Amino acid sequence: MIKKGIILAGGMGTRMSPLTKAVNKQLLPLYDKPLIFYPLSILMLSGIKDILIIVNKGQLNQFKKILPEKNSLGINLQYKEQKKPGGLPEAFIIGENFIKKDNIALILGDNFFYGQNLTKKLKDCTKLKHGAKVFLHPVKNAAQYGVAKINKKNKILKIIEKPKKLFSNLAVTGLYFFDNNVVNMSKKLRPSRRKELEITDLLNSYRHRNKLKAEFIGRGGTWLDAGNIDDYYDASNYIGTLENRQGLKIACLEEIALNNKWIGKKEINDSINFYGSCEYSKYLKNLLK
Ligand code: TTP
Repeated sequence: MIKKGIILAGGMGTRMSPLTKAVNKQLLPLYDKPLIFYPLSILMLSGIKDILIIVNKGQLNQFKKILPEKNSLGINLQYKEQKKPGGLPEAFIIGENFIKKDNIALILGDNFFYGQNLTKKLKDCTKLKHGAKVFLHPVKNAAQYGVAKINKKNKILKIIEKPKKLFSNLAVTGLYFFDNNVVNMSKKLRPSRRKELEITDLLNSYRHRNKLKAEFIGRGGTWLDAGNIDDYYDASNYIGTLENRQGLKIACLEEIALNNKWIGKKEINDSINFYGSCEYSKYLKNLLK
């Protein structure tokens, strides 16, 4: 069982500048919550309680204001700083002491996932014992992402970052499940031309060993990369539309923790006091009824 997860919440946020000059991207609002609530909710829905958040140097205090280590979510939060954005696989090098001998999930701090049956799929992924699994999703503009080709058994045959010649519409999303070899395999990677360790290289080392499988949220599910301004607003509008129509919140962390039986009435009341008088607190109050 995978019981630990990492959220990579640093990065330069170049594409979102000037919004990201003073505030880290993951702390910007996505409709009614900070962006980081959404990837955190995905780990929590997977049943993962031990979570390491990796942030940029100097930004720890900002994050701890909204997600303190001592929290009322029933999860164990830890933080580490990344000196500078050196690429996604650095998560496993920075997180080595956190991962120890365990398998690990990784989610990018700016990725939004939503869909029917997603929780079941996530829980299935946490059963991974060997190799690696990555979520793929069809997109119209796949060429701007890592692109994957799969066989009938969902084995990944080919994976190329921003291919010049498109061979599939399946983009590599920011949600991955790895066995413990990921730490050593990440250490063996060499920086690319843009001077970063590349997740595509890491996935390819699993693929070369025949150990890389694909998972899908399905065509009824949604994946948005809120790291670019258009997807960011699309995600915000999408969340607002669904929440206001259904009266149910997406990524209400306390609700997930309550459903997982990680917290009870006391912690919900603690959260209400922490957030103060706002719509989110009103929603929490309703959970107690
Ligand atoms: P990206 O979107 O690839 O990079 P970025 O956030 O720096 O944005 P931009 O390309 O506009 O400059 O990163 C994906 C996520 O991973 C994002 O949430 C930031 C995070 N990240 C890190 O925490 N450390 C890193 O070294 C990198 C490359 C990304």
